[in-house]
Amino acid sequence: MSCLEINGGRSLYGTVSVQGSKNAVLPMMAAALLNKGITVIKNVPYILDVCYMIKIMNALGCRVKYEQGTLTMDASCLTANELPLMWAGKMRSSIMLLGALIGRCREAVTYYPGGCSIGARPIDLHIEGLRKLGVTFLFEGDRIEAKAKKLTGAQIVLPFPSVGATENILLAAVNAEGVTCIRGAAREPEIVELCGMLNQMGALISGVGSDTLMVHGTDCFRDCLVKASGDRIVAATYLMAAAACRGEVMLTGAPSAYMQSSLAVLRQMGCLIRQEAERIVICADKAPLPIPYTKTAPYPGFPTDVQSQLMAVLCFSEGTSVIEEAIFEGRFNTAWELKKMGADIIIEGRLAVIHAGTPLRGTCVEAKDLRGGAALVIAGLAAEGRTQIQSCHHIFRGYAGIEFDLQQLGADIIADHGSSDCGTVNYGNDSNVNPGKSGFGQAVQMA
Ligand code: UD1
Repeated sequence: MSCLEINGGRSLYGTVSVQGSKNAVLPMMAAALLNKGITVIKNVPYILDVCYMIKIMNALGCRVKYEQGTLTMDASCLTANELPLMWAGKMRSSIMLLGALIGRCREAVTYYPGGCSIGARPIDLHIEGLRKLGVTFLFEGDRIEAKAKKLTGAQIVLPFPSVGATENILLAAVNAEGVTCIRGAAREPEIVELCGMLNQMGALISGVGSDTLMVHGTDCFRDCLVKASGDRIVAATYLMAAAACRGEVMLTGAPSAYMQSSLAVLRQMGCLIRQEAERIVICADKAPLPIPYTKTAPYPGFPTDVQSQLMAVLCFSEGTSVIEEAIFEGRFNTAWELKKMGADIIIEGRLAVIHAGTPLRGTCVEAKDLRGGAALVIAGLAAEGRTQIQSCHHIFRGYAGIEFDLQQLGADIIADHGSSDCGTVNYGNDSNVNPGKSGFGQAVQMA
């Protein structure tokens, strides 16, 4: 079983470079299926979710090569349009391949997506949006069969700015005849990056960064090379760790422009923050101040993906804080693990009331989801004594070599990655992949 062991109580000092953005890279990989040619993405983190996605793309006939953070995908000749159940069920982003595959093949079969257990995570908005474009569906248990004789541009209104639904609809709409207008679209930076890539590939999307996207489809995509931005959630996680442990940390490759709501909360906790375009320095020399009330919200609001980490930091403040989780109701599962370490947290529906003051002590806890796992790392780093975090495969799905990054900052942390079900990812006969900061396997193949 994968686990992390932390000997807590050390301040963090030093510089660390932030990995590429998981949530930007995964839909970009799906977009590569649209192009009957070569697509290259740089700054790709070597994490389990990328590995799962590569497995799926291999199964579809897409050749993939991963080397030194660069992913090269050749989708000139797809051989299947059914996602393998084993991998599709493991990650939420597998659903994104539906929009791309239906665009490319007009037929696709997938399975209800997996991913973190952080709430209900329905896909009704994806399905309704694709239906508007002309897709018909057949559901049998977890199996989803999609067909479209023709994709036609449509007016789509999203009742909630779902990130995944916006991306999925975009991936199909760029292949539709005519113009699609998506109102109520999500505005997350990862969507801006996906639109930039699709435009580079030959689509014409306007309104990028707003909640109304106009998509002029094309049936002729071209090769492209893109670089994913730094991961704003990983960057925020490391800043939160510094806030909890105290110290002075510089992040390079951090997309500060995308992180304003997280930086505002860190400042509210009393941390000094200096920021440049891709560099953030945090200085935390005293216990964090409590936050009377904060609420998660779609971008540009405070990200639900940083909520658990914030909760962990607030356990080390002096006073009472309240967090409202407005996106994923299951995110508060982490509170039960923090309580094992001595935290005083009361959950009332979508509100968490954190009474700080009791020192947390290391113990054995379990990562229940990706960001909740990262929150336990923060708690373990700042608590007195030894913390063992089990089920860390959740953390390794999104953090490339988290233990190395934190060791670089002076933390006493070691990882056992266990045996990855990705095994040796094979990216082709001609190259072996450099696993970079991650230690989960010898990486990559490309079928
Ligand atoms: C993405 C991110 C995830 C982040 C989330 C919100 C990826 C791989 N994951 O997830 O890290 O936490 O955005 O920023 O990019 N909803 C529906 N019906 C749908 C789709 C969503 O009701 O068809 C609801 C969800 O239950 C949730 C809310 O909409 O309450 C937000 O979900 P969504 O934005 O779709 O999140 P994901 O794309 O799954």
